[in-house]
Amino acid sequence: MSFRWHSYPSPREAASACARQTQMLLEQALSGQGTATMAVSGGSTPALWFRELVDLDLDWSRIHLFWVDERAVPPTHERSNYAGAKAAFLDPSGIPSSNIHRMRAEASDLAIAAMDYEAELRDSVRLKLGGVPALDLVVLGIGDDGHTASLFPGDATLFVTDKLVAPVPAAGQREARLTLTSPVLESARATVVIVLGASKHPALERVWAASGDLRETPARVIRGCRGSVTWVIDRAAGGMG
Ligand code: 6PG
Repeated sequence: MSFRWHSYPSPREAASACARQTQMLLEQALSGQGTATMAVSGGSTPALWFRELVDLDLDWSRIHLFWVDERAVPPTHERSNYAGAKAAFLDPSGIPSSNIHRMRAEASDLAIAAMDYEAELRDSVRLKLGGVPALDLVVLGIGDDGHTASLFPGDATLFVTDKLVAPVPAAGQREARLTLTSPVLESARATVVIVLGASKHPALERVWAASGDLRETPARVIRGCRGSVTWVIDRAAGGMG
């Protein structure tokens, strides 16, 4: 893992930098193989980044979009990662619907939905690393609790390695999810992690610490990424006030 990080004064500047980094990595893939594949996360942070992405000059007709994870809600629900991406990016960018690979986490049987998405991932991502689809770019966030994707502290999904996509059971207020598993995250050719806000600082410190407990801080799985990893943070997340 080649580990780089950049800190920016404000969330807007960090999101803009993340968009520029995304453009550079996607253009590298496009020039190398004619197409590109990217998986995006949900939550509030990507919303900022999506808005910056729309303004970039990228040939979206050659870029296929996947999700890192999705909540078990309808695709029109306000908690849906797809719904957030649709409003901020999918519609304005004009990316062809055939390039949009939505996780169907609203399905009644999440285990079947996970298998279906795994098949779609295998069919759509040509490049494989040890038999695992190697996405050109994966964009991750981390939660205040140290999760990434939908790999949560104390949840066994973090240790699933015989599947590419897995259902995550509901817990407390958190709805059930579908998530890419650690083998897919680790096989990405490039990973960009955008982390904004002071509330993320403790989790970021636990991820960046030389040693730590993966169960307590699943985002430490990012340390096992075999491709390039670029952290884009704002000063608040970096603990610089
Ligand atoms: C999700 C996300 C999750 C997210 C982080 C950061 O569905 O919740 O994929 O992994 O990226 O929790 O979320 P915020 O940007 O909302 O803090």
